[in-house]
Amino acid sequence: MLRILVILGALLLPSGGAGAQDFDRRQLVKLPPYLRDHFLAGMRDHLATLDNILAHIAAGKAEEAAAEAEQNLGLSAIDMHVQGKLVPYLPPTMRELGVEMQQAASRFAVAIQRTRVEQTQESLRWATGALHEVTLVCRACHATYRVR
Ligand code: HEC
Repeated sequence: MLRILVILGALLLPSGGAGAQDFDRRQLVKLPPYLRDHFLAGMRDHLATLDNILAHIAAGKAEEAAAEAEQNLGLSAIDMHVQGKLVPYLPPTMRELGVEMQQAASRFAVAIQRTRVEQTQESLRWATGALHEVTLVCRACHATYRVR
């Protein structure tokens, strides 16, 4: 079910480009300013993590790519104190998307570690697909919500 929501979220709304704001139907999630700052800083960390993961994959460092995903892409990237305050403000589907991202990151971690054992094109494709499931959740949430 959530998978369908994710795909719909990503496909129903246009992706960026000129005039994209004309079609902006994202739902505004109102956060107190200090929580919004934490939330956005956490998001910038997510992008840095994604970049690190790709760098590790390119360097053939599966172990490091897995650790990066496990440790930094969960909601645990935001500290527990802030997370406890933030969650009540989030719509249920947005929370589910957060959990889905965490789970997709863990599945990727397993998949990329497997490429160390099975050094095949197939296993690398599987891991790439798992990472795509992570970015699909990023994309779906971005297509659906805004905080400002
Ligand atoms: C649960 C929903 C959700 C998920 C999952 C999510 N984001 Fe975000 N992200 C948001 C929202 C909402 C914003 C704020 C958009 C706005 O109001 O302009 C945002 C903003 C950002 C920003 C801009 C930060 C800034 O300072 O302006 C970056 C970068 C970002 N996200 C990266 C990512 C990446 C990379 C992933 C996946 C690995 C991801 N996000 C997953 C909801 C999400």
